[in-house]
Amino acid sequence: MQELSSLWWRDGVIYQIYPRSFADSNHDGIGDLGGIIAHLDDLAALGIDAIWLSPINPSPDVDFGYDVTNYNEIDPKYGTLEDFDCLLQEAHSRGIRVILDLVLNHTSELHPWFQAARSSRDNPYHDWYIWRSSGAHNRPPNNWQSVFGGGAWQYESSLDQYYYHMFYKEQPDLNWHHPPVRQAMLDVFRFWLERGVDGFRLDVFNVFFKSAHLQDNPPKLGLRAFDRQQHIYDIDQDEMLPLLKEIRSLLDSYPQRYAVGETFLSNPTKAARYCVGDLLPATFNFQFLFCPWRPGKFLSAIQRWEHSLTPEGWPTYVLNNHDNPRSATRYGRGEDDERLKVAAALLLTQRGTPYIYYGEEIGMRDITLRREQAMDPIARRYWPFFKGRDGCRSPMQWSAAPNAGFSETQPWLPVHPNYLKRNLAAQRQDPDSLYHFYARLIQLRREIPALRLGMFLPLTYEPRAILAYLRQTPEQTVLVALNFGRRPLRLFLGSQLAAAPWRLLLSNAREHFEGMDQDYLCMEPEEACILIQD
Ligand code: GLC
Ligand code: CA
Repeated sequence: MQELSSLWWRDGVIYQIYPRSFADSNHDGIGDLGGIIAHLDDLAALGIDAIWLSPINPSPDVDFGYDVTNYNEIDPKYGTLEDFDCLLQEAHSRGIRVILDLVLNHTSELHPWFQAARSSRDNPYHDWYIWRSSGAHNRPPNNWQSVFGGGAWQYESSLDQYYYHMFYKEQPDLNWHHPPVRQAMLDVFRFWLERGVDGFRLDVFNVFFKSAHLQDNPPKLGLRAFDRQQHIYDIDQDEMLPLLKEIRSLLDSYPQRYAVGETFLSNPTKAARYCVGDLLPATFNFQFLFCPWRPGKFLSAIQRWEHSLTPEGWPTYVLNNHDNPRSATRYGRGEDDERLKVAAALLLTQRGTPYIYYGEEIGMRDITLRREQAMDPIARRYWPFFKGRDGCRSPMQWSAAPNAGFSETQPWLPVHPNYLKRNLAAQRQDPDSLYHFYARLIQLRREIPALRLGMFLPLTYEPRAILAYLRQTPEQTVLVALNFGRRPLRLFLGSQLAAAPWRLLLSNAREHFEGMDQDYLCMEPEEACILIQD
């Protein structure tokens, strides 16, 4: 096959950093840009191609950066624009691209635009947000709900109007129907593109537009009020498509610039719809992240994604992010990491861009907090049924030094107590560690075109505990066999496939490959085995 010219975001591995929790260079307990710069060599050693930084714009941190007060600045707790330029330069010099998180659906209530907007109905910024007078009997304008709980309309008594917020009430939604908002936001893209940023993660992009008529959402069955509605008028409005085209053509006016859209309330069909030629280069769908530890569930997630995308669409795969319990907590048993190696092999051998969340490569587990320690406001609202998103945001575990080498002072969230044993320095010393397994998988992906670009061909006749597939180009065939279970198993390949000249690329359970057992590959418990024919 003629190898397509390389595209960093399609062929590479992207690493998400939650800057508050990555590394603290000035010892105030909060991670910062200096900390990221200091660890770029560690990231280069892992082999990743790009970093995505959760928001670093100034923010009062009601939603920890996802509530912005200035789109063209760096929050002083993270550093300055000069520090950011230095980060860009240092990252680029190591071949690492930089992706910024743009939160353009809403601002902080402390953004000067909203301060002006709420000062009077006549203020030129009033129309930058979504205001309505109360409905009949002084009720909110319609039945829309906030995803974080409660109604989505907040009453502003001085104006006798409600404003709309899909998330916290401190995060008023912008009025994207208003042309100056659109202009201002396209300028935000330009500002960072001109600085040399390689791409963007677009926070909840499919929420930007809501129906201008504000119709009530129809009911459906569900647990919380938010889930008891079909979200047909508050998200996924078609007016978004011309905007996505405009964003795409702006990106394409620079070489190899990327955007990945966070599809809110995603499913593969919906995510695929926005990830086509003249819309976004990529979108997230989170089916992988919600899969229980069952091979069939992952297989159907992959197949649904593959079947939904048009040939020009390119999948993304995510096992972890800053909004959900870590995969090590969901899948891991105690401190054992073998199952996580199987998960790593699954993630890093897909046809699609793999995303790794900081600490995933060393199997960081979620921290458990008491109610009074919770930082995420949503925790207090739903405790003890839902304890918020702090668990997966604890400080990176660099070493066995105090505070896991994250900071010399007490970090903003507690370090996981397992850090004395579970940390990057220790895993570097241990050739069998999860860290080295991630690093080898990333390296294999880099070396073997079939793993990046090959077709995905499932072998569907495996026993229930195994997920097995081929990744294939005309020149290369790679066999990936993943035993999800704790018993040895035989994978039936059939005589033709079994007889092929297989060579071992990687396994967490064996050093050498002794060949097939007739028509079968014998697998160890929780083994990830990758073989190649070339
Ligand atoms: C996205 C972010 C989440 C944030 C929300 C509102 O879902 O991932 O962390 O709370 O948007 O900005
Ligand atoms: Ca700091």
